[in-house]
Amino acid sequence: MDHTNPHTSLNAILDEPLKGIRGTILTFKSDPFLNDASQCYDLFSDGLIVIQNGKILQVGNYRDVAQLYPALTDIDTYTDAVIMPGFIDCHVHYVQSPMIGSYGDTLLNWLNKYTFPTEAKFSNKEFAEEVASIFFKQILSQGTTTANVFATTFPVSVDAFFKESERYNTRMISGKVLQDRNIPEALRDKSAEESVVLSENLLKKWHRKGRQLYAVIPRFAPTSTPEQLQLAGELYHRYSADGVYLHTHLDEVQSEIDWVKELFPNQPNYTEVYNHFGLLGPRSVMAHCCIVKPEEWKVLSDNRCGVAHCPSSNLFLGDGEFKYWEAKSPHHPVKLGVGTDVGGGTNFSVPRQLGEAYKVAMLQSRSLGIIQSLYMATRGGAETLHLADKIGSIAPGYEADIAVLDLNATEFTEWRMRFAESIFDKLFVLMTLGPDNMNRATYVAGKKVFDRTRGTKFIHASQSPA
Ligand code: GUN
Ligand code: ZN
Repeated sequence: MDHTNPHTSLNAILDEPLKGIRGTILTFKSDPFLNDASQCYDLFSDGLIVIQNGKILQVGNYRDVAQLYPALTDIDTYTDAVIMPGFIDCHVHYVQSPMIGSYGDTLLNWLNKYTFPTEAKFSNKEFAEEVASIFFKQILSQGTTTANVFATTFPVSVDAFFKESERYNTRMISGKVLQDRNIPEALRDKSAEESVVLSENLLKKWHRKGRQLYAVIPRFAPTSTPEQLQLAGELYHRYSADGVYLHTHLDEVQSEIDWVKELFPNQPNYTEVYNHFGLLGPRSVMAHCCIVKPEEWKVLSDNRCGVAHCPSSNLFLGDGEFKYWEAKSPHHPVKLGVGTDVGGGTNFSVPRQLGEAYKVAMLQSRSLGIIQSLYMATRGGAETLHLADKIGSIAPGYEADIAVLDLNATEFTEWRMRFAESIFDKLFVLMTLGPDNMNRATYVAGKKVFDRTRGTKFIHASQSPA
């Protein structure tokens, strides 16, 4: 497309007005874990993004880009801020929003004590809708524009989620959770066959409806019969070429791994359980992967699986310690993003996960770089979700999902920034201090759906003026 003269477009009559966002812009173009980090990003200290019809037309230095678009007058300008691609949460349970911060147990007890009773309430449509509405406000206020989301057993929990996503026009991935054993009856699927039929019906209803994408979600190996895992694998394979996902948990904590060994004694490890049932592929996303054997990394890498590192959850539940250097080993690298894993995770902010990821690495005497961290939160997440051609970068042709991080979010951060030099030093301070209001505005497909300083903070896409 010729970006130099947008007025000659044949679609001019149908085109929305041009929209601009000006300020310091940071975006990634390749993986800094595997390449020279200094070559992996673009940074424009006074940059301009030009948006039309929900997509990015152009980005670059303000001086250069503004003169290409003389008709562009509607520009939001941000100072003391960093404009980034919207954050990507690669693993979160919206249905656990009501129980975030529940006290005092390790994974398997915590699931029984808090998680399952909470998820059982989602057979109620009104409750599901209320929680979906709250969840979207939380993530959008934190600058998250795409998430890979567990609903729960009940189809109404999936409908409530996607309906709310449609209102904001967000690109989201979700689906029904498949769980037919080792789970209270209120949440248990009646049969493997029925559960997969329900999942396929939801897939047909929601996959590619607007920006919505569907995932087949067996909760984790212990809560599915072999029959359900088999049928889930078949469903995934029927639809994965059309962009359907497989989302589950893997290798989070030793007690879970031991249980999987008891339940599937013929498989050499946990990853091979999923491999056996055909659950691994380029659109498979595995949450956690804290305690992974070298041969498991190899299988995940060979199958081009994505991995969601969920540090605040791993710390909160006392799981294993994630090893990013294993996940990104040149011998068997996997696609790597971060997940909040609410309600195991303790907040909805992807940048705050980066602060926790740094500490998890430090516990193991490794320093996770800020460039690598910010990559994981944006383009790395998009790679993990197999969407790196659409989201996760600020570049021509990409969907205009954008977050604006405020370097002066609080009086103290404003003062602290005086003693930080580079933009990366400042972003490291911000993610370490993690003020709850660090995101100033969020754009979804070019519309400002969240603005911290606006009277009405949240606006659905259809009502948003710009
Ligand atoms: N493994 C199986 N289910 C869950 C869950 O809900 N949260 C976490 N953190 N791990 C799980
Ligand atoms: Zn989880």
